Amino acid sequence: MIRRFVFGQPIETGAVVQDIPVCAGEPEYMTVTETEEAIILSRTMAEDDIVYGLGEQVRGINKRGFSYISNASDDPVHTEEKHSLYGAHNFMILAGDSNFGLFVDDPGKVVFDAGETQIDTLTITAGKNCVIYFIDGDDLKEIVHQFRGLIGRSYIAPKWAFGYQQSRWGYECEDDVRRVVRGHHDNGIPLEAVYMDIDYMEDFKDFTIDGDKFPDFPAFVEEMKQQHVHLVPIIDAGVKIEKDYPVYEEGVRNDYFCKDEEGNDFVAAVWPGRVHFPDVLNSEARKWFGNKYQWLIDQGIDGFWNDMNEPAIFYSDKRLKEAMDEIISMKGMNLDIHSFFHLKDIVRELSNSAEDYASFYHDMDGVRVRHADVHNLYGYNMTKAAGEAFDRIAPDRRILMFSRSSYIGMHRYGGIWTGDNNAWWSQLLLSIQQMPALNMCGILYTGSDIGGFGGDTTEDLLLRWLEFGIFTPLMRNHAAIGTREQEVYQFTHLDNFRNIIRIRYGLLPYIYSEYMKAALKDEMYFRPLAFDYPQDKQAAGVEDQLLVGESLMIAPVYKQNAKGRYVYLPEDMLMVRMSAMDNRSCEVMEKGHYYIEIALNELVFFVRKNHVLPLARLGDSVLTTADLEESSYEWLGYVTDQAEYELYTDDGISKDYIPEEQWKIYSFTAEDFADNFSLQNID
Ligand code: GLC
Repeated sequence: MIRRFVFGQPIETGAVVQDIPVCAGEPEYMTVTETEEAIILSRTMAEDDIVYGLGEQVRGINKRGFSYISNASDDPVHTEEKHSLYGAHNFMILAGDSNFGLFVDDPGKVVFDAGETQIDTLTITAGKNCVIYFIDGDDLKEIVHQFRGLIGRSYIAPKWAFGYQQSRWGYECEDDVRRVVRGHHDNGIPLEAVYMDIDYMEDFKDFTIDGDKFPDFPAFVEEMKQQHVHLVPIIDAGVKIEKDYPVYEEGVRNDYFCKDEEGNDFVAAVWPGRVHFPDVLNSEARKWFGNKYQWLIDQGIDGFWNDMNEPAIFYSDKRLKEAMDEIISMKGMNLDIHSFFHLKDIVRELSNSAEDYASFYHDMDGVRVRHADVHNLYGYNMTKAAGEAFDRIAPDRRILMFSRSSYIGMHRYGGIWTGDNNAWWSQLLLSIQQMPALNMCGILYTGSDIGGFGGDTTEDLLLRWLEFGIFTPLMRNHAAIGTREQEVYQFTHLDNFRNIIRIRYGLLPYIYSEYMKAALKDEMYFRPLAFDYPQDKQAAGVEDQLLVGESLMIAPVYKQNAKGRYVYLPEDMLMVRMSAMDNRSCEVMEKGHYYIEIALNELVFFVRKNHVLPLARLGDSVLTTADLEESSYEWLGYVTDQAEYELYTDDGISKDYIPEEQWKIYSFTAEDFADNFSLQNID
């Protein structure tokens, strides 16, 4: 059951799609204190209570012991002391003797102190105008299922976007992209998409293409299409202020930009220098900005990523001037411990400042709202602008869309990537731990920058990361300009990379089916072990293994030079070890704790008892999903009794997910898998 409590006069955020009647009285799970400025919920936690959720945040699967602040932040250093990343995902479950879910629908800053200040106390501080939902349920999956029903169906990406994708800030021109495609395809490495980072634009202007770098863009898109490679351009939130640039001129003419205190278009600076922010919280401006994507779609583009939409601000004109004046006044001074560090702070604090976020305004269809009060809605609405436009422009086909910043509800319009991580082993673990929390919030199309965005990756880190990335719906290698080139073909043991990426294509029938089931049935694709083994106290403490779909458990290696790892099996499972699609061994293992050796070039995963999964039959020449044969599968199974599997297939592009022939149930018995856990011969 879902109960809704309303405090003050909340802003309509668009997070939920169900109309739940307002509940009078107090929510029984938490004590509510109303102050002039805030709604404070608190509760004592029992020793074994676990806090799950909160989406894109640092630290573990169990969020206890730290504070998390929903305050969309452009921060490229995702270390454990950080309280905010790019998204604001105010949904959590407190799991213990009784379980309940809680969603704070407040687009401003919300603090979840999950036992940082007082180890046994959960305290949530929201703004005085908010809606809070409590969800009852004994079963964790059921609570998530109800929440997902409340917030609506998850975005579904085109099937090609489940293939392997390559990105780098710094692919400048056509030839750079061609080199990347050749580097993969000539080496037999599948590649589905190449990303176009800000380098493709003319002076970092949205909806422009630099004609020197891409002289005939539609022809180039077509050339890539012939090889089944998709080009995915980035779109940034800020619109460059430049005379005669049509997007700027139209925005000014129609009052589509956010306003400052005096009612002028608010000036901030990002990549191109000074920009205005489209007021995507205004329905007309949103429609206008969304329609701009058409210009690229008309040239053959079918996927985008929305960036810098917290929105990131390098500086505002006003504060830059103040800072400059102060710095100039320090010229010639003997800078001591205080003044020198103050000087550094002046520059550091110029970016993404709370003062700037409090100094501009949205016109929410007639209501003037201070940005700071709705800060967490910007990325959501930029992506909604695109999503709504896609429905108008190409109603019958899927277009790839994912965003950096997000709020609950954005999952209906696109996925997210987890932003600017680093080429550190700890970030691989973080990425594993973020996935189930994102899935709880309906964000299913997601993944991290494989190999790490900042810093120089190493061959072993990239390979281990890919061995996890095989399972993330978004499987994209992306790196920052100036870092070591990290396309897989740059490394010594190319075979290893080829084999691992090919395994992703082998697993695609399963990954795609499980994704579709999770999206269409409001389920989680990645789950912590405790969600499926609620009675198992040991499963509750596992922080580095995940269930993937209905049949698999994974236990990725995330430590450098580790030759294997400890794994907990919550039931008897089949361990599958693969170093290539045609190099596989299987072993039944009983419930319990193990140290399992896993060589650098090996993928190990576990099939649950009485479960199976379909594998695509891969010819040598599979380079994209277009080469996958969909008519027959090999089945891998651990069946001691019987098993059923619901396989979903479709054309990968249209939006009709209902037809019966796309959903097939296969039944199996123990005898089917007598031969090395594999069944070759059913169509
Ligand atoms: C931001 C994005 C990153 C991108 C860069 C340049 O840092 O998060 O992915 O490469 O901007 O556009």
